[in-house]
Amino acid sequence: MTERSRLFEPVKLGDLELPNRVLMAPLTRNRALDDGTPARMAETYYSQRAAAGLIVTEATQISAMGKGYIKTPGIYDGKHVAAWRNITDAVHAAGGRIFVQLWHVGRISHTSLLPEGRNPVSSTDKAADASTYTENGFEPVSKPDALTEEGIRETIADYVTAAKAAKEAGFDGIEVHAANGYLLEQFLMDGVNDRTDAYGGSVENRMRILEEVLDAVSEVWPANRIGVRLSPLGQFNGVSDSDPATNYGYVVERLDKRGLGYLHMVEQAPGAETDATQADIMKRLRAKWSGFYIVNGGYDGDTAAKAVAEGHADAVAFGRPFIANPDLPQRLRSNAPLNEGDGSTYYGGGAEGYIDYPFLESGVPENVA
Ligand code: PHB
Repeated sequence: MTERSRLFEPVKLGDLELPNRVLMAPLTRNRALDDGTPARMAETYYSQRAAAGLIVTEATQISAMGKGYIKTPGIYDGKHVAAWRNITDAVHAAGGRIFVQLWHVGRISHTSLLPEGRNPVSSTDKAADASTYTENGFEPVSKPDALTEEGIRETIADYVTAAKAAKEAGFDGIEVHAANGYLLEQFLMDGVNDRTDAYGGSVENRMRILEEVLDAVSEVWPANRIGVRLSPLGQFNGVSDSDPATNYGYVVERLDKRGLGYLHMVEQAPGAETDATQADIMKRLRAKWSGFYIVNGGYDGDTAAKAVAEGHADAVAFGRPFIANPDLPQRLRSNAPLNEGDGSTYYGGGAEGYIDYPFLESGVPENVA
């Protein structure tokens, strides 16, 4: 067994000093107000978890058209900024660091969730084989309209609005969500993108929108405060790619030239097993990245320490374990037992299952260094 202490060696992410390599992954919790303003309780939720080397917020829509589920937060108007400012202040006061994950769901949405009952937008006009959660419970997603080139320009402008709002709200950086079947992945993956214009066809064209988003938000944030999240093997939300090793090999090589803060790889979907071929693809993609590398999906304290010790990752993002264990770093360090999460309170609801999971000893998070 690799020493757990490997997870607690401080590390630099760009110009940010992280006290440890146990990061909090983005986690949808569906507790925001209907207008996308985060709930006051989120100040407690995030600051309780400030011992993480870095917190990445729950996926946060960049515009009203980027929303795909009820009660997810936004980051595009003054009310959102004011509420997030209280959250980032609380996290910083507790000694933490926090990036916001910028999200556009693309076709994983429903007309009832969008302004004036509009259709969702995507790279394609084909509906995903997926469902979303609306006021009426789970419903199949709506058929999207394929974005026009003008629509792509407007969407990129929305990323800029959100990136500026993130700065005003006091975040330490932004993560561009290009994973898990949402808009940017709907362009990246050849099983979805059926365009014949400059945004479809070759992988170079399919990643054009991601490159343009990154160019645009780089006018707002230094490159080293921008992360990107990818899920090359993902099939979540009705996506597929015929050759992730080659296609994402190109994507990772291109992204590597930007000097970004980090690449955040979803290696394995929750509950899925990774086979040897998939593990080999992930290793080959990892070798193409020269910067800070975060892995996520299925890690525990031992496998995370091993990934860091072997140089596979600089840090490991934990999702569900962080829901139930606000002091996850302390627990991993001391090999303490973990609280069990209650799946019935993951998505939606109030304080229960959100800010009431017990700490090991005291209720006060202590910064793990
Ligand atoms: C979700 O809300 O189900 C969700 C959001 C973002 C992800 C994955 C799942 O990356």
